[in-house]
Amino acid sequence: MQSIFSSPNPLLFGTGASKSTGEKLRELGCKKVLVVYDAGIKATGLADRIINSINDAGIATVTYDGVQADPPDWSVNEAGELGIREQVDGVVGVGGGSSLDTAKGAKMLQTNPPPINKYFGREGVVTVPSVPLIVIPTTAGTGSECTPGGVITDTVNNIKTNIAGVGCAVTLGIVDPELTLGLPPSVTASTGMDALCHAVESYTSMRANSFCQLTGKEAFTLVGKYLVRAFENGADLEAREGMMLAATLGGISMSGPLCHLAHDIGKVLGGKFHIPHGNGCASCLPQVMQIDAAAVPEKVKEITIALGGTVRENATPEEIGTAAYETILSLMKKLKLPGLRDFGAKHGFTKDDLLDVVPENVVMMQEGLVKLFGQGTSPVPATKELIATIVSRAWDEN
Ligand SMILES: [Fe+2]
Repeated sequence: MQSIFSSPNPLLFGTGASKSTGEKLRELGCKKVLVVYDAGIKATGLADRIINSINDAGIATVTYDGVQADPPDWSVNEAGELGIREQVDGVVGVGGGSSLDTAKGAKMLQTNPPPINKYFGREGVVTVPSVPLIVIPTTAGTGSECTPGGVITDTVNNIKTNIAGVGCAVTLGIVDPELTLGLPPSVTASTGMDALCHAVESYTSMRANSFCQLTGKEAFTLVGKYLVRAFENGADLEAREGMMLAATLGGISMSGPLCHLAHDIGKVLGGKFHIPHGNGCASCLPQVMQIDAAAVPEKVKEITIALGGTVRENATPEEIGTAAYETILSLMKKLKLPGLRDFGAKHGFTKDDLLDVVPENVVMMQEGLVKLFGQGTSPVPATKELIATIVSRAWDEN
């Protein structure tokens, strides 16, 4: 069954929904569109399925299949310039977060002159509206189909940064759980943990609102019910639908309340140490939720129970924190998620390398939010010492 509901942008959600991509582009008045994806999506045949749907509707396509992980500025510029050269009147992104964020950047450049680097950051950046953009996620994690911006790697300053504003706004998200049936277990696990982080971090954010009380809570409840099922049996359509809904609701939940320490740490781990986004954000989640219990015990208790943990009646915040830590760590073990030590061995960095870089950058991120919004998002104040303890423990324990 398909349904339409409103989020920061309209979404068409349901199994088989991606078959109507061409029809939706026609409704938007498009005649020639830029389709953005990566080599992995090309290999699965999913890109061709979408392109066929577009061509069947009488709309011409130009393809950019060079999307990179942690999309670098130069790749976004390449995609955007291809669209300008070909005079497209629409953009379609197909894939995981990197493809969708590259597509958002490419859309921006159709009416906002290149390079994309001119539009980095949240403060003082003004963009003008651009051509229609349809995004079609093929993973259940980023929620990029309903977030008003994207994450791009600034290769000049070697940091991950944001684009936002009307210039890169999503016109329509088409969310089709069927597209996730072929995802390998490791990707199901890491992207599913990204969705969980969006849900629980926005739910416990200092900027939490009544929308995320509904959407975030439903999202982490769905993750508790379906993530291990989808990991163990990728062909389980009910589990795939549940996780896709969790990812979308997680994306809606974080639009406004934002995330906090697990994502801040994950962004530094991605930008400086090339750890995939979902893995990086999940890497310290057990410790982050444990310390958050001191500030928001009832919320952490709800999260713990939804993820299958048990918390005794009248439990102290400390007991709730311990239960949250054990429950999330147990989930990560079931999903066979590699930890920070595994990534260190693979990429050649040590715990000290992380401690030299991560705490300072995370504190800067929270301070940036204080400057912008008058408060950070973390329910416990972020100090370098606290972040160092979290990262150090995650390296040793997770
Ligand atoms: Fe994320």
